[in-house]
Amino acid sequence: MNIIRFGISLPAALSKKFDQLIKKKKYSNRSEAIRDLIRNALVEEEVETNREVVAVVNLLYDHHKRQLSERLTQLQHSHHHLVLSSMHVHLDHLNCLETIVMQGMSRDVKQLADLLISSKGVKHGNLNFSSTGKNLE
Ligand code: NI
Repeated sequence: MNIIRFGISLPAALSKKFDQLIKKKKYSNRSEAIRDLIRNALVEEEVETNREVVAVVNLLYDHHKRQLSERLTQLQHSHHHLVLSSMHVHLDHLNCLETIVMQGMSRDVKQLADLLISSKGVKHGNLNFSSTGKNLE
C-alpha cells in the first residue's frame, strides 16, 4: 500500500471541534479519524449509486403476532440470494430480535429491508449499510 501525505487547511474553530470530537471517539490521531471519514463517504456513495454492499437489518417483534414470523421467514426465502445469514434471539416471553446480514446491490437490499421492517407487528427495525470492503483499501 502506497501512503501519501497531504496538508489540510481549515478554520481554527473547526479544527478545535474536530480534535474534541476525535478525542471523544477515542481516535489515537487525526489521520485515523480522517481515514474513517473518507471511508464513510465512500460507503455512502456505494449505497447511493446502487453498488454491491453488505448490510445488517435488525427487527424487533412480538412472536405472538399472527403469522409474522412466517412472513419474515418467507420474505427471506424468496430473496435468499440477498441473505447471507440470520440470527434469532428470544429476548423474553414476547419479544424476538432478528438480525439479518445481507449482501447485494444496495437498491435490492433496501427494498427487502423495507418489506421486512414495514411488516405489520414489527415494533422496531433498522437497516445499517456497510461495505464488501473491496473498495476501501
Ligand atoms: Ni423468538
